[in-house]
Amino acid sequence: MGGTAIVLGGQPGAGLSPSRGHAAAVTGPSDATGEAAALYLNSCASCHGQQGEGTAVGPSLVGVGAASVDFYLRTGRMPLGAPGQQPVRQDPAFNEAQIAALVDYVASFGQGPPIPVVRGGGDVGRGFELYNANCAACHAATGAGNAVGGGFAAVGLGKATPQEIAEAVEIGPGVMPPFELSDEDRSSLIAYIEYLRAAPSPGGAPIGGTGPVAEGFVAVVIGLTGLVLIARFAGSRRVREDAVPVDAARDPDA
Ligand code: HEC
Ligand code: HEC
Repeated sequence: MGGTAIVLGGQPGAGLSPSRGHAAAVTGPSDATGEAAALYLNSCASCHGQQGEGTAVGPSLVGVGAASVDFYLRTGRMPLGAPGQQPVRQDPAFNEAQIAALVDYVASFGQGPPIPVVRGGGDVGRGFELYNANCAACHAATGAGNAVGGGFAAVGLGKATPQEIAEAVEIGPGVMPPFELSDEDRSSLIAYIEYLRAAPSPGGAPIGGTGPVAEGFVAVVIGLTGLVLIARFAGSRRVREDAVPVDAARDPDA
């Protein structure tokens, strides 16, 4: 369980304003949890509730797990600037110590997926198969990203670190579905995405060089899979978002 080894920089109160590049690491202050709680109350509670129970403008964080909190904070998607905004990738608002403290604090609201282990040395060939079967429909064969419909964009994969890729695959942010992968497959996927970034291939990654029929077939399969995934996950996400106000205010059966 988290919560035992919070590392937070500075004196009490010093961590309250988001600051970056501040690498102080004071281990084991007795009020570390208090500082994490203050950070949370200042930056998150207005939308997610004092105990992460959720509000009309932010989903519950109970049970989202360390993987989700780490991903949203590292990629700067949280804290959201204002209710109603779409989360986008940007520079993180917090330093490493603050992110670690917030991750432990929010993860303590309820059990959820831990930060996935990232090992090096994946198999690029296997990663190619996994990527084209599961990711290319939304992120494009090149990893450049795409509009996925309904006003959502699957961002390009040029910036995410291996840890962020592993977390995204685990949690499925936004309309992206979560994927259950073995450690080996996850490493292979990461290796292939890193290969794509390095590949000087503006026309797209090779699909296997087996000719137009096979490539057309691959496109159809990927396209259909993508549509099914988008329909399923856009639908289920909407149900989840609706769940907050319904629980809080209007019970249709009442
Ligand atoms: C202005 C409102 C707002 C603020 C402030 C805010 N959030 Fe959020 N948060 C949201 C909304 C809305 C979503 C849902 C975004 C989506 O799925 O498109 C969200 C999603 C999340 C998720 C993903 C939940 C899941 O289901 O996996 C995490 C984790 C999260 N926020 C953490 C935080 C943390 C930590 C802070 C403080 C540093 C914070 N948020 C501040 C509105 C907010
Ligand atoms: C149904 C479409 C869809 C599929 C399939 C999909 N994604 Fe995503 N992905 C998205 C969307 C949309 C986002 C942006 C979510 C947000 O910002 O809330 C995203 C975000 C990401 C990010 C974060 C990028 C960043 O820079 O912050 C990574 C990494 C990622 N996806 C990797 C993958 C991988 C790897 C796969 C295959 C295993 C995959 N995705 C499959 C739609 C998809």
